[in-house]
Amino acid sequence: MNYEINRNGKRGIELLHDPSLNKSTAYTEAERQALGLVGLVPDVTESEDLQLRRVMQQLGHKNTDLDRYIYLINLLDHDETLFFRTIMSDPARFLPIVYDPTIGEACLKFGYIFRNPRGMYVSIERRGQVKKILQNWPVKDVRVICVTDGGRILGLGDLGANGMGIPIGKLQLYTATAGVPPTGLLPIYLDAGTNNEQYLHDPLYLGLRKTRPSTEELYSFVDEFVDAVQEVFPKCCIHFEDWTGVDAVHLLERYRNKVSCYNDDVQGTAGITLAGMINATKLKGTQLKDEKYLFLGAGSAAIGLANLLCTALVAQGMTLEDAQSRVSMFDINGLLEPTRTDLVDFQKPYAHSHPPTKDFVAAIESIKPTTIIGVSTVGGAFTQQVVETMSQLNDRPVIMALSNPTEHAECTPEQAYTWSKGKAIYAAGVQFPPVHLNGQTFLPGQANNFYIFPAVGLAIYATAAKRVSDEMFIEAAAAVADQVPEDLLKQGLIYPPQSNILETEIKTAIRVAKLVFDSGLARVDRPANIDAFIRQHVYKPEYKTLV
Ligand code: NAI
Repeated sequence: MNYEINRNGKRGIELLHDPSLNKSTAYTEAERQALGLVGLVPDVTESEDLQLRRVMQQLGHKNTDLDRYIYLINLLDHDETLFFRTIMSDPARFLPIVYDPTIGEACLKFGYIFRNPRGMYVSIERRGQVKKILQNWPVKDVRVICVTDGGRILGLGDLGANGMGIPIGKLQLYTATAGVPPTGLLPIYLDAGTNNEQYLHDPLYLGLRKTRPSTEELYSFVDEFVDAVQEVFPKCCIHFEDWTGVDAVHLLERYRNKVSCYNDDVQGTAGITLAGMINATKLKGTQLKDEKYLFLGAGSAAIGLANLLCTALVAQGMTLEDAQSRVSMFDINGLLEPTRTDLVDFQKPYAHSHPPTKDFVAAIESIKPTTIIGVSTVGGAFTQQVVETMSQLNDRPVIMALSNPTEHAECTPEQAYTWSKGKAIYAAGVQFPPVHLNGQTFLPGQANNFYIFPAVGLAIYATAAKRVSDEMFIEAAAAVADQVPEDLLKQGLIYPPQSNILETEIKTAIRVAKLVFDSGLARVDRPANIDAFIRQHVYKPEYKTLV
């Protein structure tokens, strides 16, 4: 293990105030005697399970998921082990509270529910000092930084500093779903201002009260940040999260061949959607290359998925041009086609000759996709007419309504199954309950990248990978797809159940780590047994012995 327990000489009340060392009522008699804790905690020694019982009881008195979120973050501020023990005790119940969909509301209200600072806030006003600022972080061996500029938070737009809830939540998921040790994880908000008028005038807003700078200024600030990370945390991977679509794609291209980094909105979303597509083809008895894809939305998520899908198709023997010809996109200004003058460089490979149209149903009728993928941020955009048209064209239309949070999903599973008369293979970005229709039960899967990025993160963490490749996300997608039990797949579930998410992610990380070693990207020696090697790194929410 890389992170042995180190008290840094802390004793007594200092231990109680350090969430990574606090055991609250669980200190042993020996620890109480040796570390000056007698009298500072109730004179009983409780087990973690008894503490968990108390947490559950207190949570039971909260009325809303936002209240539960606030309670849990408060718990994390005091007792990290008990926080992760709680989340990991029932991931299917707690992931929607610490992440989607509650996190959306938590971000919108970030300035109001703020209690304790967590992670780092680096402002563009402090250009020239970023390295010095990063040196203020107490942990010296940081392995993953999750960083946002708050430019496009979930489907909620520019939330500026309120977006900090996202890197905090994402890194909690690394630990809660894949067992990445929390000590080496650091959430960062790069504050370059916001164009959100409401926040600029809100006295409780926690960011710079300035509109966003030019792209050139922003990128030079990010350059300084990326360089500083290489110097201060040399083994660190930078996970970019929730930047606007254009910045996400451009910044990834800028750094991906130079440093260890990836963008989860681009590559993680792509990986999880690819996993669903692989299982949809298993259900249909086809292969990825037999399918035709139409995206609603042509931003970072769409481009990331299309690029990854094409890489996977090329690996299966297609030419890149053939692969790209299978993918069309439709955005806020209509179908992407070559006469459009508003397209950015990375969208052009998916702009195929076609008469201009702003009618999505007409585009479906003409292109005849087998799969539609909603990454538009527009709730309800897959109308009855859209689903019915897909059902007329396909025996099993594949409908992926990926936009978050819940009310932004392009359609609900109930709508997809009802309008397609039970024919649709459906997944959403958030978890919806099973749908009962005409005596049949359908299980909508959650195409949430939390099946992918924590597993890739665990592999990167354990191997200290020096670069993050697309192939790592394709391997993760295949590994996730392979872990859906046959009987559940038959009920339409194209993603593994969340109840066993830790084991799913560990198995995925093992396959990704093998690829990291095979491709020469690891910065540690190849172990004889990669399975055991990955499992050795997995964090367990158990108190460590302090004396
Ligand atoms: P983005 O802002 O880069 O792109 C949004 C795209 O939607 C743009 O191309 C825009 O033109 C298009 N669009 C907006 N209104 C439209 C309309 N009325 N009709 C057609 N197209 C429209 O955002 P990004 O990063 O691509 O994310 C999109 C959505 O995907 C978000 O809601 C996000 O929460 C979701 N997402 C889901 C993930 C998952 O795992 N399920 C992961 C990452 C993102």
